[in-house]
Amino acid sequence: MKAKVLFLACLLATANLWAQPQLTADNISEVVKAMSPREKALLVVGFNSACEGYNPGLPGTGGLTHPFPQYGIPSVVMMDGPVGVRLEDRFTTCFPTGLLVAASWDRETAFRVGQGIGEETRDMGGDVILAPGMNLLRNPLNGRNFEYFSEDPLLSGSIAAAYINGVQQTGIGTSAKHFAANNQETNRLDGDSRMDTRTLRELYTRGFEICLRESAPWTVMASYNYLNGEYTQESYGLLTDILRKDFGYKGLVVTDWTGKRNTPRQLHAGSNLFMGGMYSQTEHILASLEDGSLAMEDLDLAASKVLELVTKSISFQRRDYVPPLKPDLEAHAALTRTLATEGMVLLKNEGVLPLAPSRAALFGIHSYDLIPGGNGAAFVTCPYVAQVDDALKEAGFSLNSGLEKLYRGYARFIEADLTLNHKVNVHVGLPQKPELDITRRLVEQVEKDADVAIITLGRVSGEARDRILEEDFLLQEEEVNLLENVCEVFHAAGKKVVVVLNVCGVVETASWKDLPDAILCAWLPGEEGGHSIADVLTGRVNPSGRLPMTFPQDYFDIAGAEDFPYHFVSEKANESAVHPERRGMDPKNISYTDYTEGIYVGYRHFVTHGQEESYPFGFGLSYTTFAYSRPVVKQVGDRVKASITVTNTGAVAGKEAVGIYVHAPLGGFSHKPERELRAFGKTRLLQPGESQVVECFFPVRDLASFNAALSRWETAKGTYTVYFGADCRKPAASLPLTLNKGRNYPVSRACEPVRQ
Ligand code: BGC
Repeated sequence: MKAKVLFLACLLATANLWAQPQLTADNISEVVKAMSPREKALLVVGFNSACEGYNPGLPGTGGLTHPFPQYGIPSVVMMDGPVGVRLEDRFTTCFPTGLLVAASWDRETAFRVGQGIGEETRDMGGDVILAPGMNLLRNPLNGRNFEYFSEDPLLSGSIAAAYINGVQQTGIGTSAKHFAANNQETNRLDGDSRMDTRTLRELYTRGFEICLRESAPWTVMASYNYLNGEYTQESYGLLTDILRKDFGYKGLVVTDWTGKRNTPRQLHAGSNLFMGGMYSQTEHILASLEDGSLAMEDLDLAASKVLELVTKSISFQRRDYVPPLKPDLEAHAALTRTLATEGMVLLKNEGVLPLAPSRAALFGIHSYDLIPGGNGAAFVTCPYVAQVDDALKEAGFSLNSGLEKLYRGYARFIEADLTLNHKVNVHVGLPQKPELDITRRLVEQVEKDADVAIITLGRVSGEARDRILEEDFLLQEEEVNLLENVCEVFHAAGKKVVVVLNVCGVVETASWKDLPDAILCAWLPGEEGGHSIADVLTGRVNPSGRLPMTFPQDYFDIAGAEDFPYHFVSEKANESAVHPERRGMDPKNISYTDYTEGIYVGYRHFVTHGQEESYPFGFGLSYTTFAYSRPVVKQVGDRVKASITVTNTGAVAGKEAVGIYVHAPLGGFSHKPERELRAFGKTRLLQPGESQVVECFFPVRDLASFNAALSRWETAKGTYTVYFGADCRKPAASLPLTLNKGRNYPVSRACEPVRQ
């Protein structure tokens, strides 16, 4: 009898298990229906990788979603970040950083970087890579600029889309982040970005809009900050009206990590997955269902979005897949070496580059201790970093060994000091290393055995801390001394000096750029950086990068310079993320930041207001020359066709980036930027004498400006001027384009400023 009861009970239990629908891509609503409110409230709240009790991820993994074996739902594993897979105890490849990728002005480069990172994510057991970072470069001092792409939303959005397409082609998902207006790190969890609606639409959501038109990221990450008085993660206007209704986004919205807000309000607004979640959020959801402040439809929508994500993941699609936990480091190193050269920008070259093998004197700590990438979520534990000195030796140069010993010893000492004495977290990267003070006497000695001098200047930055003006944007005293001494001594002996900028973003150049004979901006070029730099310096690769951001003459020349915490120093990196009200800080630029420059960010300001830059947006030299001919501009239905023939008129092979800028008639607007980038393309490697037609199509709608009063995009009737050439200041050709009638494109009325 007892055995019979037991048997029946077992049968019932098994039947109950069988009764649960097993997740497939086609039965998501059925599974959501079958799940209890508690199960759904657990499903939409993820785990941090450090979560105790359940942690199949490798140390350093960003986070995981909750598994439900009874429904056949595995965890989705999410990993950082934009520059490569970030893990703590495994080596992965450090790819070239975002700014460099954008500086290539080449979708193919972005695609291949994405593809490499996607492959490594898959090999390390991830399903989604938390990348790309694509916030607009509003100010040169944002600590995360190196992860992002450009001051222009079109360049940002198109490069982001190509990167996303590259990653997702490998079966791995992406997270376009951080939506939106997350343009400073100081008080990043609670700062309020305050701007008018036109600025929001034309700049800060525009890059995401373009990205979503050209790609379909599995997830979009909602930022930490407030936007016009409302947390972005709680903003129905931003996440539902703009993102879903206006931009047509269909994927999942994940919150940035542990930005705990009002959970039911976040769900209603359109946040679907809470990462790295907290159990209190699950409890909050259940309590709000109970007291009626959260509708079950909001939770159901979020649950279905999470299940859609699950069904796309490798963890779901290939349950028998055992990740090798070993990326193809060799193949990807070779890839980064090539890709990094695509975005290096030659800023100056007076008869010195490319260099033939000779005796070179290498100055600057970063000639021996290259910064491959930045800090924080984008930090990568890479197996090695190819150094400039080693790479030049491989290329046949002979270097001053005394200088090499001195700098290498100094670099080791500083590193030990930072990691041991200052207890810096090596898993998120090291802070800036101070430059060594070199005496003029030493420079004079070294000059005797050298034919040329190379000085590498470096800047590193990262999450949770912005850069500042003194000794960061501006050069340090030791750097100025070094530049002056080396240039004077070498020039006096009739020898040349080359400066390499190994920088996370823009630095001041106007005060010293006349000193050296050449300047190469190599950005943070990834782990093979030394080789990539040597490849460009020696002419193995002809540089074809163009600036994705203006280099101003003076920080205060940028519009809105005062509306950024450019001198705010926090004692510890993360302290800048602490709510200022608890620390009694000056609220302006910390509690809130007014985007007073409006739409005049970067070149839009410089070109419109006649402000001279040190190097304009789009600037970059080559070892060859190009001629532009046969420009064509015409309207073809709803699109504009703009094409031009580019011919390599120099003596070596090279690639040319072509920007297509448009000057629009005012229509009903009181002001518009003088020129705006509306399309871009790049040639293949053109041999001397070879030509290529660069042809771009873009929607007529992209010529529009945003009328905030009427909540619509408007193209004006009249004559537009279309300019060709990467450099926004000196286009090589231009043509008129006439629209016989204007058009309006209405959108939702959302995210209007509440307290300005
Ligand atoms: C960063 C995100 C990152 C996440 C997970 C956050 O602090 O802002 O960019 O993806 O952490 O590590």
